Amino acid sequence: MKFSTIGVIGAGTMGVSVTADLLLHDMDVVLIDVSEDRLKEARAEIIKTLRFAPMLAKHVKAVSEVTVLERVTFSTHLDDVRNCEFIVENVTEEWTIKEHVYKALDLICDSDICFGMNTSCTSITQAGSVVSRPERIVGVHFMNPVFLKPTVEVIRGFHTSNETLQALETLLRQMGKESIVVNDYPGFVSNRISHLFMNEAAYVVQDQVANPQQIDAIFKKCYGHTMGPLETADLIGLDTVMRSIDVLYESYHDSKFRCCPLLRKMVLAGNLGRKSGKGFYDYAHQAN
Ligand SMILES: NC(=O)c1ccc[n+]([C@@H]2O[C@H](COP(=O)([O-])OP(=O)(O)OC[C@H]3O[C@@H](n4cnc5c(N)ncnc54)[C@H](O)[C@@H]3O)[C@@H](O)[C@H]2O)c1
Repeated sequence: MKFSTIGVIGAGTMGVSVTADLLLHDMDVVLIDVSEDRLKEARAEIIKTLRFAPMLAKHVKAVSEVTVLERVTFSTHLDDVRNCEFIVENVTEEWTIKEHVYKALDLICDSDICFGMNTSCTSITQAGSVVSRPERIVGVHFMNPVFLKPTVEVIRGFHTSNETLQALETLLRQMGKESIVVNDYPGFVSNRISHLFMNEAAYVVQDQVANPQQIDAIFKKCYGHTMGPLETADLIGLDTVMRSIDVLYESYHDSKFRCCPLLRKMVLAGNLGRKSGKGFYDYAHQAN
């Protein structure tokens, strides 16, 4: 089996990144968002990603602007994914929003179509509870930028079937990726651990123990990480990080997941990281 048309729901940071990588691997995409403006921005961001990708990774081929225009259907109508062979959902990390999308997808798509949930922390089993096909929902935790990441954390929900895992593995193989399959608890492996780092790093800034540059430098130069926790938070988007920590707190009722007030204040002030031009760092003068 080979996939040729994928439905991507949500054209934000991850929807753009996933779409660009699907195009790099010769698949067509139907990209859905609620906002026309966002879709216009997404189109420009996909073109930009494809333009820079071959410079950043040797294995990546050049894909022209014409390809984007021909191979992606940009739409605000969820119905347009009805003929897609697999769905990758990347909407905002808020359960009420995701719940609405899954209930609608369940009515639109044929009963044999699988839904890959790209979420930071939300339980895959929870999404399965609102559809008639819980065995066809699987977590696919892509990381940004998707074309640079060879491995994907895959999450098996309570009802996820082996056939669904196989379908996702086929898609990921077509994208040149491997998977690591883990079980379903909010945050899975990656974000249950990494969001504690990012949240605590925000507390360290709030408590004036150190500034963001110093904190990230300690992680990079002492621990040998490629990126520090605050650079990572800025790349993900501070709004997404905040919502994910809130999901972890609501899920586990454990105070270790309480969101840092400084992080929440930055989000309320519109400092969302790279995507808004300012977060823990200032990106106003940088080419993204
Ligand atoms: N940012 C990351 O690095 C990252 C990494 C892995 C997973 N995720 C997860 O991926 C998902 C998306 O994250 P993001 O960073 O792209 O968020 P984002 O805020 O950048 O984008 C979300 C998009 O969803 C759209 N949207 C909202 N409601 C919708 C609906 N009903 N139908 C269609 N589109 C809708 C919004 O308009 C927005 O464009 C989240 O669940 C997040 O936790 C994010």
